[in-house]
This record gives sequence, C-alpha cells and structure tokens, in this order.
Amino acid sequence: MGDRFFPYEIIDKKKRGIELSPEEIKYFLNGFLTKEIPDYQMSALLMCCFIRGMSQSETAALTDLMTFSGHVLDFNDESVIDKHSLGGIGDKASFILAPIATAAGVKVPMMAGRSLGFTGGTVDKIESIPGFRTDISLEKFQNHVKQFGLALIGQTEQIAPADKQLYALRDVTATIDSIPLITASIMSKKLAEGAAGIVMDVKVGSGAFMKTKKEARLVAKSLLQTAKRFNRKMTALITDMNQPLGFAVGNTLEIIESIETLKGRGPKDLQKLSVELAGHMIHLAGKASTPAKGITKAKEVLKNGKALEVFRKLIINQDGNEKVIGDYSLMKLASQKIDILSKEAGYVKSFKNEHVGHLLNDLGGGRKMKKNEIDHGVGFYFHKKIGDKVKKDEALLTVYFNKGQESIVESIKNQFINDIIKISKTKTDAPDLIYEILT
Ligand code: URA
Repeated sequence: MGDRFFPYEIIDKKKRGIELSPEEIKYFLNGFLTKEIPDYQMSALLMCCFIRGMSQSETAALTDLMTFSGHVLDFNDESVIDKHSLGGIGDKASFILAPIATAAGVKVPMMAGRSLGFTGGTVDKIESIPGFRTDISLEKFQNHVKQFGLALIGQTEQIAPADKQLYALRDVTATIDSIPLITASIMSKKLAEGAAGIVMDVKVGSGAFMKTKKEARLVAKSLLQTAKRFNRKMTALITDMNQPLGFAVGNTLEIIESIETLKGRGPKDLQKLSVELAGHMIHLAGKASTPAKGITKAKEVLKNGKALEVFRKLIINQDGNEKVIGDYSLMKLASQKIDILSKEAGYVKSFKNEHVGHLLNDLGGGRKMKKNEIDHGVGFYFHKKIGDKVKKDEALLTVYFNKGQESIVESIKNQFINDIIKISKTKTDAPDLIYEILT
C-alpha cells in the first residue's frame, strides 16, 4: 500500500519550507480537482508556495500534473511554434507576428485569453471583427494549424483545466505574482497545446505583472528551465511595458492598428517588436539558421504583403468578415470622441500604464470581473509617447466613448492629466523596447 497523505500535513510541511514530493503534490492537486480538498486548504497551500517559493522539481511536478489535467495535443512537427506574452497595455503584437511567422513557413497554434483586470485579451480584440469565431473545436483548430499554418481559439475547458481553477483561486488570494506558480500556469497551457517551441514575451514595467527587470529575468529563467525539462525550444525576450505598445488601446482600435501595421503603416515600436518576436519564431521553427536571418525574413513577408494575406485568410477561415481589412467602418467604433489636452509644455516623462488598463475598464472596454460584457468600440488613441515634446493644450490622447459616458470621461481626463501621464521640463529618453534576450 502507498503512503497516506493528509492535506493539513502537506500544508504544514510547505509552511515550514520543506520540499514536497511529486506524490504529495499529485495527491493535493487531484484532491482539489475532485473537490475532496476544499478551496480554503488549496488557498493556504498556494500562499505557502508564494511565501516559501518552490524548488525546480516541485515546479516541474506541478506543471506536469496541470498539463495532463486535460487534453494534450501533439502536432509532432518541429515547425509548430507558439508565442506567449505575459500581458500588457495595447499589446496587439500577436495579430502581426503570427501572420508574419506563418507567411515565413512557421505553424502557429494560438490559444489566447480574454481580458481580465488591467490587461487586454487577444480573444476579445479579434472578436471586434464581425463574425470571427474563436470557439471552433479543437479538431478544427488542429486541422487549420496543420493545413494553413495558423488558427486562433479561446482557452478551452479541455486544455489544462487545472490552471483555470487554480488561477481563479490565485486571483482572489493575492497569489498571482508567484514565479513558480506563474511558470506552472503558463507552461502547462503551452505544453498541452503541443508546440515544439515557444517564444516568450516577458513584459516589464508599470503596465506589466513584473514591475522590475530583476523579477522579469527570474520569470524568464524559470520558464526557460521548465521548457528545457520538458524538451521544448524556447527564447524569452524581456520587453518594455512602461507605456502602451503602439498608440491604440481598446479592442477595435487595436485591430485597426494591427491591420495598419500589416499594411506597413504601423507605429515603429509595434512593428519592431512584432518583427523581432516573429524572427525568433522563424528561427526556432528551423526556417532560418539564426535569429537575425529570421528577422530579415520577417521584414520581407511584412513588406511584400504576404503577412497581410495570411491575416485575411485567418479571418475567412474563422468566419469573420475579411472586408474589414479595406473598410474599418465595418467594425464597431464608439460614436463620440474627445481630445485630452496637456496642461503644460514639456516632455512626456512617464505613464502609470496599469491605470490606462483600469480606465479602459471604466469605459467598458475591458473586464473588471469575468462575467462583464465587453464594448469593443471604446478606447484610447495616444498621440504622445515617453520622450516626446508636448506643447501646452496639445492633444495627449483621444478618448473614444459612447453617449451617456460624459461624466466617466471627465474623471478619465482628470486622472490622465493629473496623475497618469507625467510631463517634465527636461527631456526624458524613450525607454528601450527590448531589454534582454535569453535562450
Ligand atoms: N499568465 C498566465 O497564463 N498565468 C499566470 O499565472 C500569469 C500570467
């Protein structure tokens, strides 16, 4: 007969900083999933993991169990490469880099989330395109990836269901920002999606989960170690999230900006990041011998329009109206807009970027709670970035809103000019876009 375990003893052991065995972790997670172990005991264990940390072997055991809590796809193809971002404000790079990578011969299985808290969600953004379906079956998803090279679906119950339940508990027990728990959460989903390699975009700054480069580096290293243990190729880029990526924040606005970028007319930072991440995907897929050659290929397929054609095909494949590419008015955009003007002359010094996400939620463009509906049409279009010169009464941003939201907009305006966007008399350098690349 095997060992008998008791939830209390396992929590107590972890509380004292003693490493748990894979069997103890398995017993606890299975008990939680079958509801034999209640939420309050799992919450206690999660807090002990947060405070005490977890060893590499504990993290690997948890990742493995979470991965196999549902379906595990296997494309059995070295050119299947995924990308994951740790979330940020205005981060729409997936819509550009995935078509670029596919146009260069990479197969990209995109399984994405919805907006929650201050971060936006890829699934909500793409649903700005009328008709676009993100709820296709796993079978269809796999076939599209194999035959066409790209498909996009929302997180399904079938992939890593343990993460869904654990994440919901972490979200309300202040245990999200634990490096081993983040690692197990992300890696279980990525491993179950069956990609041979993953490019990680680890965001750092005022609009990211990781506020310091030191934390971001620790997360990146933990993800890399876990990928290695599970025999997956990985490159992690640590990138800036101290200001919105590109100019647009809000669902439809971000899709318009993504299409503009695929047409070669996008903001420089968004284009650069997308090309860089796609270049690494092309390299990991074995379609370029070095990342630099991958980046050159990425630039080529962006310039010659092949990436835009992949995006068009993605929309058609998933029942969306591809005419949006030529006519943005087919997507819902709020009827009212107003410019927010700078109170003073100077240079943009900083953004409280996380707050930009919260203000989008105030307008209805994101979710405060899972059950909230999204308004795709509202959002912000920024005219200034860090380091830019600004005159008194010059527009810092335009707010897109609906009739009846005037008082919310007034409050948003005050927060932007008095707190969120700081102006200084002396010039601040624009932050680097990519801080570090780890392999
Ligand atoms: N993203 C995830 O998927 N999981 C986490 O725990 C944090 C960010």
